[in-house]
Amino acid sequence: MANVTRKIGLSLGADLCWPACYEQILERLALSIDWQGDRVAVESERVTIEPFDLRQSCRYDVVLDRLTHWYHLSREWIKKAVLMDGLYVLNNPWSVQAMEKHTSYCAMIKLGMPIPETWMLPPKSYVPTADLQPTLKRYARLFDLGAVGREVGYPAFIKPYDGGGWRGVSRVDDDAKLRRGYEDSGNTVLHVQKAVDPFDRFVRCIGFGPQTHLVSYDADAPLHDRYTRDKDFVTAAEAQTLRDTTLTINTFFGWDFNSCEALRGGDGVWYPIDFANACPDSQVTSLHYHFPWLVKAYLRWSIYCAVTKRKMRRTLDWEPYYAIADLPDMSYPERLRAYGKIAEERLEAARFEEFCAKHLGHLDEVAWEFFGTQAAKTAVREKVNALFPAHEVEAFTSLFFGRIQEWRADNASQQASPLVSKRGAK
Ligand SMILES: Nc1ncnc2c1ncn2[C@@H]1O[C@H](COP(=O)(O)OP(=O)(O)OP(=O)(O)O)[C@@H](O)[C@H]1O
Ligand SMILES: [Mg+2]
Repeated sequence: MANVTRKIGLSLGADLCWPACYEQILERLALSIDWQGDRVAVESERVTIEPFDLRQSCRYDVVLDRLTHWYHLSREWIKKAVLMDGLYVLNNPWSVQAMEKHTSYCAMIKLGMPIPETWMLPPKSYVPTADLQPTLKRYARLFDLGAVGREVGYPAFIKPYDGGGWRGVSRVDDDAKLRRGYEDSGNTVLHVQKAVDPFDRFVRCIGFGPQTHLVSYDADAPLHDRYTRDKDFVTAAEAQTLRDTTLTINTFFGWDFNSCEALRGGDGVWYPIDFANACPDSQVTSLHYHFPWLVKAYLRWSIYCAVTKRKMRRTLDWEPYYAIADLPDMSYPERLRAYGKIAEERLEAARFEEFCAKHLGHLDEVAWEFFGTQAAKTAVREKVNALFPAHEVEAFTSLFFGRIQEWRADNASQQASPLVSKRGAK
C-alpha cells in the first residue's frame, strides 16, 4: 500500500471566506483514505499567477476555479492543463466561455423547458469597424420595436444576452418603457423576455456535482437578505423538478457548479429564467445561513474527484438529451426525469453518495464544530471587511456569523456524540 497525496488547487480572485473555511476544514479532516490499494491524503494549495512554459506539467489533480470567466491567463493555464495533463477543473473553461445566457435559453427551449417567450434584438449602437457601414446598409432591417414588445407580451424584462450581476436588467411595462430601455442600451445585445407575472415563489437551486440545495430567494430584499432562511417552501415533487432542471442544465453544459433561478408562475409551473450562472456567488455575505452547506459541497465534490481521479468530460455530447427531446408521446415531467437520470449518471451520483458515506462520514461533525470557532468568525469578518464600510464591519460580522450559528442550532444532530464519535468511522 503506497502513501499518496492528491492536490487540489484553488484558483481564486476576490474570494476570501469560503477558501479560508475550505482549507481549515480539509486540514481538520486529516484524510487518509484507503483507495484502490493506496492510502490517499488530500491537500489544497492556492494557485499563483506567473509565467508558464506550455510544456510544464501540472501538479494538481483538481482545480476549483473562480477566475476563468474574466482572467485570461488563468483560463489559458487551466485549458492547457486539461488538454495536456488530464486536470479535472470545475467549471469547464470552454463551456463557461461559450455558453452564456442566450445559448442556455436556446438549448433548454429545445429540451422542452418552459422558458418564457424571449426575443433577441440587434444592438442600438456599435463600436465603428471597417465593415460596419456596408454590412448594416445591406442587411440591417428597420424594425418595429413596439411590435416585438407586443409579440413577447408585457410586462417584460430587457437584459443583456450574456448577462450577470443584474447589469442592464430592467422591467418594462409598455412600448414607451421598452423604447426608452432600448435607447439607453448602447452597444449591448439585448433579450426581451416575457415576465413571469405573477409569481409566488422565486428559488435558486445551487448544483455542485450531484449535490443540490434549494434556497427561496427574495429579489427585492437588500443584498444580505436575498437568500432567505425559509424552510419547506416546495413540495417533494417540486424539489425533484428543480433538482432535475438544474442537473440537466449543468450536465448539458458541462458545469459542475452552477445556480439555476426559477420562478413559480400563477399556473403552478416552474419557469427557469436565469441559469448560466457558472461562477455562482459563494460569499458568506450573501449566503450566510446557507454558507456551511456550500463549503461542505465544495469539499465533498472536490475530494471525491481528486481521490477517485474522476475523469473530466472534455466534450459535451448532447446526443442523449436530444434523443429524449425527440421522443414522441412523452410528457414534459417524464422527459425531465429522463434528462435528470442522464445527469445523475454523468455525475456518478450513487457512487458519490457511497464514497461520502464510507470516507467522509466525519465531515458533518468536523464542519459543525469548525463553524462555531473563532477561526470561522475571522473568515466571515475578512469578507465583511472587504465589502462593508469600517463602521458596519462588526455589526455585519455578527449578523452573518449569527446566522451560521442558527444553521448549527438547526443541525445540532451533526455535532459529535459524547459516546460514539463518528470520526471512528473514517
Ligand atoms: N422573465 C422574468 N420574469 C420575472 N422576473 C425576471 C425575469 N427575468 C429577470 N427577472 C428579474 O430580474 C432579475 C435579474 O435578471 P437575471 O437573473 O436574468 O439577470 P442577471 O444579470 O443574471 O442577475 P443576477 O446576477 O442577479 O442573477 C431576476 O433575479 C428577477 O428578479
Ligand atoms: Mg439572475
